Amino acid sequence: MVETIAWKDNQVIMIDQRRLPLKEEYVVCKGYTSVIRAIKELVIRGAPAIGVAAAMGIALGALKIRTKKTAPFLAKLDEICREMEGARPTAVNLAWAVNRMQDLATRKRDEGVETLKAILVAESKRMLHEDISVNKAMGKHGRQLLDDGATILTHCNAGALATGGYGTALGVVRAAVEAGKKIEVFADETRPFLQGARLTAWELMEDGIPVTLITDNAAGYFMQQGRINAVIVGADRIAANGDVANKIGTYMVAVLAKTHKIPFYVAAPMSTIDFSTKRGQDIPIERRPAQEVTHFHSQRNTPRGVVAENPAFDVTPHRYVSAIITEKGVAKAPFKANLKKL
Ligand code: MRU
Repeated sequence: MVETIAWKDNQVIMIDQRRLPLKEEYVVCKGYTSVIRAIKELVIRGAPAIGVAAAMGIALGALKIRTKKTAPFLAKLDEICREMEGARPTAVNLAWAVNRMQDLATRKRDEGVETLKAILVAESKRMLHEDISVNKAMGKHGRQLLDDGATILTHCNAGALATGGYGTALGVVRAAVEAGKKIEVFADETRPFLQGARLTAWELMEDGIPVTLITDNAAGYFMQQGRINAVIVGADRIAANGDVANKIGTYMVAVLAKTHKIPFYVAAPMSTIDFSTKRGQDIPIERRPAQEVTHFHSQRNTPRGVVAENPAFDVTPHRYVSAIITEKGVAKAPFKANLKKL
């Protein structure tokens, strides 16, 4: 399976998700500012992967802090953390990872600067490995929801590329396939960045899992034809009441699924659940450059000067969600109480 991100010789290496699947290129980050740039420019994307990248970025930043004194070290680390946190607003895994790194540094402050640096590097590597284990646990819980012979619709990319490895939504698919179930996937292309067409289709084909690429507009057609048995998507942030922020277009798919009585599942680690955000309306939605809509790569394919809007995420109200699959188990409605229990 593809390696999304790795720590090597005090550098962070990421596969460049802007270029896939046409080119398999890697971006090497030597400092925390290049990690921030990589997150903003979608070299690395997907909520859990962004979390791991942020942690490794903070570790890179920590290594370059010059002082030997703890107080100024922690002050500079705080600056780095605040900058990192601002890279993208919707995926709560970013803030979760930043807080985890900063809390650890505060707790271990008496160890001295050099030891603190080593602790932060080790923690960021641990977060990568933990994420893969969490996804595998999620897969084991979620695969029971999929029938042998099912065709699953997914939106965006919630696979190995969006995480430390294995994937959330695609992790559930992988776990079902590993358990001997015959599963097919329909992948929405996911305009405008084409995570479905470029990334989901690519990683499933690499794994030999049957995948059919469809345009975003075709999801309703295939549901109407009875060709989709379940929908599984990932999430960027889940509010305490079970409302789900995920890639723009997810809400449309959820509404369609309910109309067609097709179960709509969300697979996400506990780190994606933001108990401090009560409802979906309170989740900040990232607005990305209009050029992602008006251009394909650098080629304009729309009238010059046309006004375009590009919200990167939408919120699916919890009434459309059949279940939320986490590493701790599967939660169904009422989500407010059942997510807490997990
Ligand atoms: O803009 P992106 O590509 O970072 O958006 C990614 C998604 O919306 C994913 O579905 C979500 O982060 C879950 S990834 C396991």
